[in-house]
Amino acid sequence: MTEYRIDPEIAAHYELGHEQERLERHGQVERLRTRALLERLLPPAPAVVLDVGGAAGVHALPLAADGYEVRLLDPVPLHVSQAQEASAAARAPLAEVVLGDARALPWDDASADAALLLGPLYHLDAPGRATALAEALRVLKPGAPVLAAAVSRFASTFDGIHARALADDGFAQAVARTVGDGEHRNPDGRPEWFTNAHFHHPDELWEELAVAGFAVEGVLAVEGPASFLPPREEAWWLEDEARRATLLEAIARIEQEPSVLGASAHLIAVGRRP
Ligand SMILES: C[S@@+](CC[C@H](N)C(=O)[O-])C[C@H]1O[C@@H](n2cnc3c(N)ncnc32)[C@H](O)[C@@H]1O
Repeated sequence: MTEYRIDPEIAAHYELGHEQERLERHGQVERLRTRALLERLLPPAPAVVLDVGGAAGVHALPLAADGYEVRLLDPVPLHVSQAQEASAAARAPLAEVVLGDARALPWDDASADAALLLGPLYHLDAPGRATALAEALRVLKPGAPVLAAAVSRFASTFDGIHARALADDGFAQAVARTVGDGEHRNPDGRPEWFTNAHFHHPDELWEELAVAGFAVEGVLAVEGPASFLPPREEAWWLEDEARRATLLEAIARIEQEPSVLGASAHLIAVGRRP
């Protein structure tokens, strides 16, 4: 079997160890919305869910607590050891935590009830994305869903304005390139500017799943209009239960509206193995 290695710059970014707490600190809407989408779109527990690119287990552990048999794979050794530790301490541990790559899954054909690709697609080139999607298709049972995340082609434009990074010439040039071809680069290696990635146009994400052989059911906004809220504003929306429900409902109402999809930082495509 081919041995795949991830880009050393991507590995170095994740070895900094920020991923374990990223969604706790300033990605709460992303976490809550992803959770809501998983609750709605996954088949009911107990079912086998593969979390490919699952990092330290941010989504995998709550799914295990809900009664799913969750198998997590990630290519970054730090993420794997963090997920193993968290799993060992959890009342509902993960069924498996394995070092590996989305392009060569260690699981049997037609063995899973659902697959999550919430990370790998934006860190692979076009052939790599096609291979990762082919692998997801292979391991899913007929009729089972894949949920595949992408970063929007326009996220760095929005973020660059909100966080003022666009005033930096290097960042502005990188953003111009990204809008053109989807390739995001971090010229100065600043951790807050992410790492090498491909940022999808919503239609491109749909197309990639369809070409891989999935019956595509939709491309959905994750954070939608709440994507670039400053931390204080995000905290205000989430600290009160009724207000939080209002926010999540407002995002869900327009989660598939094509005219605003690209304004969401993250997108999730839903496809089914025919
Ligand atoms: C931004 S993190 C997202 C983590 C988590 N799934 C989430 O939704 O918050 C992207 C993840 O993709 C993983 N990743 C990068 N390249 C990958 C590959 N070729 N195969 C599998 N996972 C990969 C990274 O190690 C990292 O854990």
